[in-house]
Amino acid sequence: MTSIGIHDLTVSTAHHVIDLAELAEAGGVDPAKFRVGLGQDRMSVPAADEDIVTMGAAAALPLLERHGTEGIRTVLFATESGVDQSKSAGLFVHELLGLPRTMRVVEFKQACYAATAALQSALGIVARNPGERVLVIASDVARYELDSPGEPTQGAGAVAMLVTADPALLAIEPVSGVAARDVDDFWRPNDSTTAVVDGRLSLTAYLGALTTAWDDFAARGGVEVAEIDRFCFHQPFTKMARKALKGLAQHTGADLKDSLQEETFPYNRELGNTYTASLYSGLASLLDHDDTLAGKRIGLFSYGSGAVGEFFTGIVQPGYQSLRRRDAVEAELDGRVPLTLAEYRELHSAEHPSDTDWETPRVTQGPFRFTGIRRQARQYEVRQ
Ligand code: CAA
Repeated sequence: MTSIGIHDLTVSTAHHVIDLAELAEAGGVDPAKFRVGLGQDRMSVPAADEDIVTMGAAAALPLLERHGTEGIRTVLFATESGVDQSKSAGLFVHELLGLPRTMRVVEFKQACYAATAALQSALGIVARNPGERVLVIASDVARYELDSPGEPTQGAGAVAMLVTADPALLAIEPVSGVAARDVDDFWRPNDSTTAVVDGRLSLTAYLGALTTAWDDFAARGGVEVAEIDRFCFHQPFTKMARKALKGLAQHTGADLKDSLQEETFPYNRELGNTYTASLYSGLASLLDHDDTLAGKRIGLFSYGSGAVGEFFTGIVQPGYQSLRRRDAVEAELDGRVPLTLAEYRELHSAEHPSDTDWETPRVTQGPFRFTGIRRQARQYEVRQ
């Protein structure tokens, strides 16, 4: 049977950055709490003329430049910071990227898990139509209340993936373990721009979903834990991945020290939480930083508060190094423009009414801009 999986993936982020050491000092917190305790160094913050659409389109552009659009008939956009209750953010991206009219476009939502639902759907579409390719975009802005415990775990970023038969990066294996349970650990009411979170409960709900999904994976004939060479976990903050690995080791009784996924951290320590994109920016980081992965099996755990989880595996393909984009990702991260804490707080508190016309200031240098609201509809432009 032909393998199906991720042919290529790209990461993009927002224009601004906040150094967590500054945030800690301003709040009278030991900076080591964020750097060591949470495992985070900085967090991306979108400018006034950026959002999930501009980041998602910016992530997808290099994929299309490298691989063209032929055979792409589906765009699946995963997010939990959607810009409209009805219209898919994917449609704005479809227009910005100039994709063909003959296209299926839809948005997926289930907290941070939605990109994995989109990936699984893409695998199914390609299995039925092996000549087709599916563009999956995960894009999010993680926002919590100012001065709340969640504040240092904010962030922003997007990942775009091209899902195809005979993939060049990661062939996804067929067995998945899944978990679902109604739990109020983290959610965002319709009238709120920030998430509501029960921090302690969110940690236990994450670890509970991991063990349930693992048991399901094992019961359905998944490989033994010892046959998995590296683990890549959803990373609301990178320390959570360490907790997950420890939890899985305790649950399975296996010694997983050698599969510590240090290389999944560099991008996420910089981006902050990117919700749906977080697992896949961790994967991009692993592929970009570890030269020894060809033929190795990666175990991936996707978590979405509310709460669902999925554990699945993929085999890294020979020659994956030729598709790397580490220089481009590092240049984008290094090129972010620092905000003062006063500027950040003002941006965080800005109102975004949808019932009057307004224009955004021109701030970003990226390929796409959010230009404002006209007749209650969001407006975007391609940089000329
Ligand atoms: N030096 C080094 N480490 C320090 C330290 C210091 N001076 N001070 C504290 N620490 C350590 C603590 O020991 C702790 O580490 P352990 O958990 O390993 O013991 C860590 O820093 C954090 O300290 P606290 O637990 O005291 O932190 P907190 O209560 O202020 O907040 C949090 C932590 C609950 C995660 C909070 O940031 C939060 O609510 N974040 C948002 C929710 C979240 O990300 N949940 C994750 C699971 S849900 C999910 O995955 C979905 C999603 O994306 C949101």
